[in-house]
Amino acid sequence: MPSPVSQPLDSCTAVTVDHPFRVLITHDTILRRVREIGRAIQQDFPSEPPVGVVVIDGARMFVRHLQRTLVRAMEWHELRASSYGVGTTSSGTVTIGSQGDLCVAGRAVLIVEDIVDTGRTIAALRDRFLAQGAAQVRVATLLSKPSRRVVDVALDYVGFEIPDEFVIGFGMDYAGRYRELEEVVVYDEARAASSGG
Ligand code: PRP
Repeated sequence: MPSPVSQPLDSCTAVTVDHPFRVLITHDTILRRVREIGRAIQQDFPSEPPVGVVVIDGARMFVRHLQRTLVRAMEWHELRASSYGVGTTSSGTVTIGSQGDLCVAGRAVLIVEDIVDTGRTIAALRDRFLAQGAAQVRVATLLSKPSRRVVDVALDYVGFEIPDEFVIGFGMDYAGRYRELEEVVVYDEARAASSGG
């Protein structure tokens, strides 16, 4: 398992004066790390791959790139989980959507997240799958904020450990915006308010 990389890795410069954010992790750095995570997952599951559960919406972009690095086909499901609402801090309540036809009994499960903050979402999903008889539950997350943790959760594949800043881009949003950004950036609310953005 690759050890997580601590931020900052890239210089924190403003993208342009018109945008209320600064780049924390560049696209190239993300892609390099995603390839490493993909290799680690394949090494850890040499015969039977796990069933993948993508926590939407935030993890969609991460998993799209992760899937390109995986040689063996996996069964994938999307599951909606939300704890933020429209603000920039976790509400503390995890809402999990319909599981559809996902059956985890007796199987290894790989949960794919964009970010682990308090750990509540991952803990809720892990507990649900274990209660449903999953053989094991592993977690791949692009980002982790260890300083924010309130629930102890084991993370098996971590792209980057980052400080306690509100990050968006590469799938992560602010009130539904900015998910399409190719970098992970820090959103500056004060600057956004002063520039009207
Ligand atoms: C984010 C993220 C995780 C969760 C992590 O989801 O995608 O699922 O919060 O926070 P936690 O560790 O404190 O539980 P969000 O509620 O923003 O929904 P989204 O992915 O649809 O944007």
